[in-house]
Amino acid sequence: MNWERTRSWFPVTGELAYFNHASVAPVSTRVQEALGRYSAEITRHGALHYAQFFDAEIERVRGRAAELIGASRDEIAFVKNTSEGLGLVAAGLDWDPGDQVVTCDLEYPSNVYPWWSLHARGVETIMLPGRNGKLPFASVERALENPRVRLLALSSVQYGSGFRSDIEALGRLCRERGVLFCLDAIQSVGLLPIDVAQAGVDFLAADGHKWLLSLEGCGIFYCSRSVLDRVTPRVVGWRSVTENTDFDRYHMDLQPGAGRFEEGTPNTAGIFGLGAAIDLLHEIGVEAIAERVLGLTGELAERLEARGTEVVSPRDDSERAGIVAFRYNDEPPKATAARLRRAGVFVSVRRGAVRASPHFYNNRGDMEQLLGAL
Ligand SMILES: Cc1ncc(COP(=O)(O)O)c(C=O)c1O
Repeated sequence: MNWERTRSWFPVTGELAYFNHASVAPVSTRVQEALGRYSAEITRHGALHYAQFFDAEIERVRGRAAELIGASRDEIAFVKNTSEGLGLVAAGLDWDPGDQVVTCDLEYPSNVYPWWSLHARGVETIMLPGRNGKLPFASVERALENPRVRLLALSSVQYGSGFRSDIEALGRLCRERGVLFCLDAIQSVGLLPIDVAQAGVDFLAADGHKWLLSLEGCGIFYCSRSVLDRVTPRVVGWRSVTENTDFDRYHMDLQPGAGRFEEGTPNTAGIFGLGAAIDLLHEIGVEAIAERVLGLTGELAERLEARGTEVVSPRDDSERAGIVAFRYNDEPPKATAARLRRAGVFVSVRRGAVRASPHFYNNRGDMEQLLGAL
């Protein structure tokens, strides 16, 4: 792959050294063009060509999204964000008082509050303690020994430390114990390959605005066909049912796939953007993207450490992803981030550390800019 060429698709490279894909990513000219196509059509023709132009693209993107994670098209629903996907699972499962959900105290709040909200239904959320930004596999194993555990809810990559979960091992464990496995995958989809079917993931949610390089407010929710009927859609609307363009006939035959979770008109503009973003990821190849980004984050962590900077993120290849979290001497992380920003380097601060998160189009020049500014 000619990585330098990919920079021309990201005009942000002319403005900033952008190290903030774990927050909100800039989009490519491909996404910009797709939004232009959407906007031109709706401006010039309104809904005149709805079926050929809009519906066709929505269904095409559903298929492309499925391919990205090893799912089938009918296992994908478009959602407005990760929280909505996780919320569909929390609200829709048939909980009994005394059931447990296992998660951990490293999680972004999107993967905590849906489970805490079940307290009123008698469901207990076990917050396993992270250690040095990591969640030890053994503590998940121990927690899942309790027969009350119904679901394991974890992030594929932790937003603060960048710790990468061993999805396959966790999936195996869940299957052995008959526990459902729900993944907040916003910090890895588009960056790391995943095969949900093979890994035994039951549910996955990810908004488009991080590693997928798309827009906010339009993401994907995967619900494995094997558990679809265990999740009752709590919000049912005209699109939830079959033959839903026959508006004059009321019936409650839910769509046979995850489309039943799309209750009304979708975010069509967002789906156009997402489609172009996913096409680009497929074109480059997620395997190649993972290798590239792991190379960049590995080198960055190494060079920071060589200068005596404390790197908080795991260093083991199997435990790291697109995030390098660090603390610069005794300087408050917010002051470091502000200093970097003044020098044209965009990072964020999470969990008491500066968080740098490059994507495939970042290069060594960006890294020099970051290290120089530091
Ligand atoms: C792990 C994780 N989950 C979820 C989100 C965002 O959730 P949502 O897509 O619901 O806004 C973030 C954003 O920072 C995140 O890091």
